[in-house]
Amino acid sequence: MHLGMINQRGIDQLNRQIKRPIITNADQSWHVFLPNAPSPFFGRDHFVVRVAELLLNRRHVTLCGPGGIGKTSLAKAVIHDSLIAERFRNRRFFTSFDGMDTTQISTRTVREQVCRAAGLDGRFNERWEEVMAFLTREDTILVIDNAEALAATRNADSMTRILDDLASSPSIVILVTTRSKYTFAPYLITQVVSVPTLEYKYAQETFEYLCPQQIPTDVIDELLHGVNNHPLSVNLLARLAAQHE
Ligand SMILES: Nc1ncnc2c1ncn2[C@@H]1O[C@H](COP(=O)(O)OP(=O)(O)OP(=O)(O)O)[C@@H](O)[C@H]1O
Ligand SMILES: [Mg+2]
Repeated sequence: MHLGMINQRGIDQLNRQIKRPIITNADQSWHVFLPNAPSPFFGRDHFVVRVAELLLNRRHVTLCGPGGIGKTSLAKAVIHDSLIAERFRNRRFFTSFDGMDTTQISTRTVREQVCRAAGLDGRFNERWEEVMAFLTREDTILVIDNAEALAATRNADSMTRILDDLASSPSIVILVTTRSKYTFAPYLITQVVSVPTLEYKYAQETFEYLCPQQIPTDVIDELLHGVNNHPLSVNLLARLAAQHE
């Protein structure tokens, strides 16, 4: 701004900005909750690389697929990928709306969740502009897990606006997981990655990892075939088999 153009209003505005309390790293709790890398986790190496590359190229990514297909597991693996960890370090934040009652989700709860994911007190949601300034100050990755819950709320438009705001910052990349790609945040431009079922050999590896007892291969084949190598189903079957063998 040309100095000659500064009037009282401009001065007031600058004054407000200077006086405004600023949220800093010191406001973060010493430990930002980050979920562990998934285990067991087989057959997704190329997906991890692909999603990490997209994120490193500053693209927002949506992992899409039916319940139990492995979206959350993939997101967890991505935030622990070495290149992602190196780039974003302690600015890797994970928030989940898994199992949340959609009637209880409001703008406030979403903001609270994002604050907590960033290691901030949930009450900072009332200082959202500052939270946004904090989030956009450094390269940050934000995982929004089970985002279909946001689309199912009464005020889905407000949710979309929060996410659009975050997504519009050049320093933030967003990794969304959702069961339904069409209903979620239509303005948030993301690269959609559909998560498929496991290849047979990896379903088999998962089964054998969780159920080390000797079970005839043709029995395992039949079980896996029956659930189409669906990761959650394979996990459940293997755990059951391990208990009953
Ligand atoms: N690649 C994999 N190898 C072995 N097990 C896996 C793999 N991916 C996911 N699983 C297992 O499958 C189950 C479901 O995975 P996950 O929770 O990631 O699914 P999801 O797509 O996020 O489901 P939802 O839509 O319900 O949130 C978990 O028990 C997880 O450990
Ligand atoms: Mg999930």
